[in-house]
Amino acid sequence: MPINSIDSLLQEERRFPPTEEFAGNAVATRSLYEEAADDRLAFWAKQARSLHWHQDFTETLDWSNPPFARWFADGKLNVAYNCLDRHVEAGNGDRVAIHWEGEPGDSRSLTYSDLTAEVKRAANAMITLGITAGDRVAIYLPMIPEAIVAMLAVARIGAIHSVVFGGFSAESLRARIDDAQAKLVITADGGWRKGTVLPLKPTVDAALAKSGEHPVTNVLVVKRGENEIAWAEGRDLWWHDALADAPAEHVAEGFEAEHPLFILYTSGTTGRPKGILHTSGGYLTQVAFTHKNVFDLHPETDVFWCTADVGWVTGHSYVVYGPLANGATQVMYEGVPDAPAPGRWWKIIEKYGVSILYAAPTAIRTFMKLGREIPQASDLSSLRLLGSVGEPINPEAWVWYREVIGGGSTPVVDTWWQTETGAIMISALPGIATLKPGSAQVPIPGISIVILGEDGTRVDPPNGGLLVVSEPWPAMLRGIWGDPERFKETYWSRFAALGDSTYFAGDGAHVDADGDIWLLGRVDDVMNISGHRLSTAEIESALVSHPIVAEAAVVGAADATTGQAVVAFVILRSKQADKQTSDEASALLRSHVAQQIGAIARPREIFIVTELPKTRSGKIMRRLLQDVAEGREIGDTTTLADTSVMQLISDKLK
Ligand code: WTA
Repeated sequence: MPINSIDSLLQEERRFPPTEEFAGNAVATRSLYEEAADDRLAFWAKQARSLHWHQDFTETLDWSNPPFARWFADGKLNVAYNCLDRHVEAGNGDRVAIHWEGEPGDSRSLTYSDLTAEVKRAANAMITLGITAGDRVAIYLPMIPEAIVAMLAVARIGAIHSVVFGGFSAESLRARIDDAQAKLVITADGGWRKGTVLPLKPTVDAALAKSGEHPVTNVLVVKRGENEIAWAEGRDLWWHDALADAPAEHVAEGFEAEHPLFILYTSGTTGRPKGILHTSGGYLTQVAFTHKNVFDLHPETDVFWCTADVGWVTGHSYVVYGPLANGATQVMYEGVPDAPAPGRWWKIIEKYGVSILYAAPTAIRTFMKLGREIPQASDLSSLRLLGSVGEPINPEAWVWYREVIGGGSTPVVDTWWQTETGAIMISALPGIATLKPGSAQVPIPGISIVILGEDGTRVDPPNGGLLVVSEPWPAMLRGIWGDPERFKETYWSRFAALGDSTYFAGDGAHVDADGDIWLLGRVDDVMNISGHRLSTAEIESALVSHPIVAEAAVVGAADATTGQAVVAFVILRSKQADKQTSDEASALLRSHVAQQIGAIARPREIFIVTELPKTRSGKIMRRLLQDVAEGREIGDTTTLADTSVMQLISDKLK
């Protein structure tokens, strides 16, 4: 049973209005909706002007060449200046920007002055290495403050970062370095994870050794794990040496609002990850606006904690750019929730007095399974708002989150968005909305969402359909790196008949009689494993790259904790089939996938089969495999080329 089955959602009738106290102090006001409805572009122009512009803009949106949007195009700003210098100049230099907690228990706090000084040195160090505006810099770091410093330093000089999640393999890193043609890689010797040092530098070495035509000239290495590493003289430099040698002063220059800020690779429906491109002014406007209003941020008093890794978009928008643009104080944690013991997150919340927590449903469901005694051993009374992101949150997990973590009184905001949207698109605003567990509810002011049927007509609520963004928005992706055709085809072609402004998100959604939106999961071949996006094609291509594999099909099967789990069906090459048992082959292939893509992609199960269900045109019918993987009765098989195949597969698995 999928976690958010439509039947269970439609029966959900609990409602949670805000307390008077919360509503009385709320940042967001109803007038935001009215202003945005009156004049959407004027509304966004006003939000943009709460940033610092080196040069003001005169035009809000240029949509003359859809789907290539230009927001605030003749304005100039510096993203890092907005996240740093601006706050210091306003007299908030002594405010803590980051309370960082290392997994082994070491900690560091950096004020806005400290962070600004570090970023200036890092920017100068990169300039010394020959990095200039428009160059790409790959960042492959653990969750340490240097990850934030590196991103902001790249942004400060107008270069473009491509952060690669530290769990990705050398192969995945290599593909990303090559695609973006990065000139510099910033990494660490290693970082702490699950009580040991996870080495990172060797992965970078392997990626660069295998790389084809890449222009990487230097690797900056942060010392964190203290593990032994190999050193390429002339190429590799210690981060601390480079910063110590760099001048302390750096004056931030303004770049055009459409100057690229970062590329972030994400899985789509094909085997090749796509580099999602974001630019500066529109992106910063929407992440700052949503961070302030969705999380009810009071920067003088709140302690914000988004638990995402900076390797994902959530880390970009709500660890780095949103909180820092708003001058927030936040917590950053290096490790896993259960090191050294399962209550680590709650101890951190108690230690720093975290007031706003933003986490993924998978984590919440894992904590639910472990029992409420663990969080109850810490004082969580500082929490006043909880957020959820990455996958649908089932009402049970939502209510548990509010009751056990939030002490029965905190609002829980369920925020829907994507790597491509850059910032939150659908969420209730706390203090205004009456919350419905399991529903992301309403578009953010200034965002236009519709739910369409397969034929492109709006569904009549209450009803289900496909989620579409129907007007351009400031933080929207500006393209896929190096592939404008794929950009048009992937996002803008599904409902092209309706006009130029219909962005198809790939998600199914239900809209209820009140107009509230309930997300139902992906409708394409993209899986969501613990809130991490992976495509079936990507894992299939890793599987068939192994010499013993003839054919592979992958499905995302419902999983009570991780939302979905990777389940693979594999046909071995005939010569191989007798050489090893099925168990041996699946163990071998599970680690092969982890090695090819990263541990997050390791299949939960691999079934060795002799046939795969295909239509007469040769397309694998994943729907049927999904039935098997989820232990359901097998659906309609009449369109199969060979209708006996499913019987064969399910007999084999009994
Ligand atoms: C899913 C993560 C339901 C959705 C920010 C989307 C969600 C994909 C939610 C994007 C939510 C994200 N409720 N589903 N609140 N948030 N999703 O690019 O399927 O890693 O298309 O961005 O995650 O994943 P991505």
